[in-house]
Amino acid sequence: MSITLNTDYLKNFINPKEITALSPMVQKAHEGLHNKTGKGNDFLGWLDLPSRITDGFLNELNILAKDVQANSDVLISIGIGGSYLGIRSTIEFLGGATKLPVYYAGHNISSDYLHNLLETVKNKRVTVIVISKSGTTTEPAIAFRAIKKALEARYNSEELKKRIICVTDEKKGALRKIVEKSGYRSFVIPDDVGGRFSVLTPVGLVPLALAGIDIKSLVEGARKGQSEYSVMDLEKNTAYRYAALRYLLYKKGKKIEILSSFYPEMFYVAEWFKQLFGESEAKGGQGIFPASLIFSTDLHSMGQLMQDGERTIFETFVMIDKPQHDVIVPTDAEDLDGFNYVAGKGFDFVNKKAYEATASAHFEGGVPNMTLTLCQADAFHLGQLYFLFEKAIGIYGYLLDVNPFDQPGVEAYKKKMFALLGKK
Ligand code: PA5
Repeated sequence: MSITLNTDYLKNFINPKEITALSPMVQKAHEGLHNKTGKGNDFLGWLDLPSRITDGFLNELNILAKDVQANSDVLISIGIGGSYLGIRSTIEFLGGATKLPVYYAGHNISSDYLHNLLETVKNKRVTVIVISKSGTTTEPAIAFRAIKKALEARYNSEELKKRIICVTDEKKGALRKIVEKSGYRSFVIPDDVGGRFSVLTPVGLVPLALAGIDIKSLVEGARKGQSEYSVMDLEKNTAYRYAALRYLLYKKGKKIEILSSFYPEMFYVAEWFKQLFGESEAKGGQGIFPASLIFSTDLHSMGQLMQDGERTIFETFVMIDKPQHDVIVPTDAEDLDGFNYVAGKGFDFVNKKAYEATASAHFEGGVPNMTLTLCQADAFHLGQLYFLFEKAIGIYGYLLDVNPFDQPGVEAYKKKMFALLGKK
């Protein structure tokens, strides 16, 4: 298996019999998803998405990518939430350096941010991809207006058709209307895949291909996840076991899950995870609060809280067996800093010891924790991890008896904002 789950530090918190006893509920959740009879069953397009992506489509994207890379110095990816986080998490996880440098817009409304971005790209050849499933979201819509205006000063309408790509609904929404009027190239987001589950639709695949990411491996990994996490067996199915364990922890009063890792490259994967889990499970006054920490950085700021704060938290570590590169701690003849005792060891070795020490200390401090380990830090395993988390939250949502595929709560602030802005 290329992603494993270690639950040693759940002992004393969860009895194996409790997991076995949960099996019928997991079975019911599994059937609800796979027979499409559960809540929110009109949004289950993600469930078999990896196997429905054709190699022909991936090839088409890679051909387009070559064209765009040849004609551009930078890519601006406009989008927010599910139309932003999966793209950034994939790029950052793989080290951040892409064939075509990517800038992000439309994920905030900061005027300084947009001003600085426009300044940064003003002498560069720009391609823009604007992504919005609804086509009506305020942040990407007004960022697109501003960026398009800046590009119109530099490119004629024929050139703009080559430099603007839209990803949106097949028929609905303002962005689709813009596509129809302008003739911009466009890709369709399937109706039955919600924003936070859309990283493997054109939402993620198009900008990632343009950036030069190995989308074939990403999809291959997700396909492996699709087949591995479809088996109704709590022992064999890591996604189901993880879902069952977090359900038991929640029922024991563990209300906050910290997704902890020892890699800064995981920062945006955790942001993606927080949207996926937070929007899916937090319904009707229920749901674990998903949080994240990057160690060892955050051990020097949040370590006290983790070790000794209120014991309503549990922790899920994400570790990587083989990083892409390792760096050796050099020997120093004088050893003035006293660190020759680790000279000759890899940073990865030291990092893993820091993890082992942290997991053990947190367990002893009353924080149950478990660890997902990816065999390698590559696109394949990230694709598999995306699918693992998607499947886990689907099952967990059904265990909690909520609809994991809607997000009615996010409308409340929008209504007030539109009223304040005078929207008619
Ligand atoms: O999960 C969701 O549905 C949201 O977070 C959306 O992804 C986000 O609001 C962006 O929406 P849209 O793609 O319609 O612009």
